[in-house]
Amino acid sequence: MIAPSILSSDFSRLGEEIEAVSVDGDTRADWIHVDVMDGHFVPNLTIGLPVVRSLLQVARVPLDCHLMIEDPDRWAPGYAESGAHNVTVHAEAARDPVMLAKNLHAAGAHAGLSVKPNTPLDDYLDVLPHYDTLLIMSVEPGFGGQEFIPEVLDKVRRARRLVDTGHLRLLVEIDGGINNDTIEQAAEAGVDCFVAGSAVYGAEDPGRAIAHLRQQARRHGCRG
Ligand code: DX5
Ligand code: ZN
Repeated sequence: MIAPSILSSDFSRLGEEIEAVSVDGDTRADWIHVDVMDGHFVPNLTIGLPVVRSLLQVARVPLDCHLMIEDPDRWAPGYAESGAHNVTVHAEAARDPVMLAKNLHAAGAHAGLSVKPNTPLDDYLDVLPHYDTLLIMSVEPGFGGQEFIPEVLDKVRRARRLVDTGHLRLLVEIDGGINNDTIEQAAEAGVDCFVAGSAVYGAEDPGRAIAHLRQQARRHGCRG
């Protein structure tokens, strides 16, 4: 799966930017990745629930909301209630991640747990059975266009093994620095869903960039 991040799109034309990757066929995004930043959990501020609600009105592709915010226990369920397909919170910020996942499910969304590059998976193994996606950050969260951190692939391999051996049931998602040069190693490590911001919206034709990334991921994916 390819999830273009609108963080690298033109914020004055968000609806059109989403539509550009929503046309059926190879150029279509599987999810639209929406980066919500609060200026506290990360040193950047983007959009919040009112804008996401507007995007939900027009989007024909499921929204994957990545909340880089403090106190997700309080704020994340609102995104689920509004109709986001997947709501991802940061493990480092959540106070009661199990309860939070339950609340997201009760509100009708899938629940995602994200870990920053230096956050070990081990601390969250008992929590992850409650989640549908694990978002492994391959850059420090906060900004698009940063360089991929290959060391996080150890966590991807670990998560892949846990899923393949039946210990976890979730999608392994990666976010940060994914482009034509890095997607193959991530696919080989076992990623299911690739977030790509600058590699998609920095390209002349975002749809074609998606098709190309997907092709590369398929060729190098551990399950073909
Ligand atoms: C970073 C965001 C990412 C970002 C990725 O904090 O979570 O989703 O948009 O951008 P690229 O693909 O350019 O690294
Ligand atoms: Zn993101």
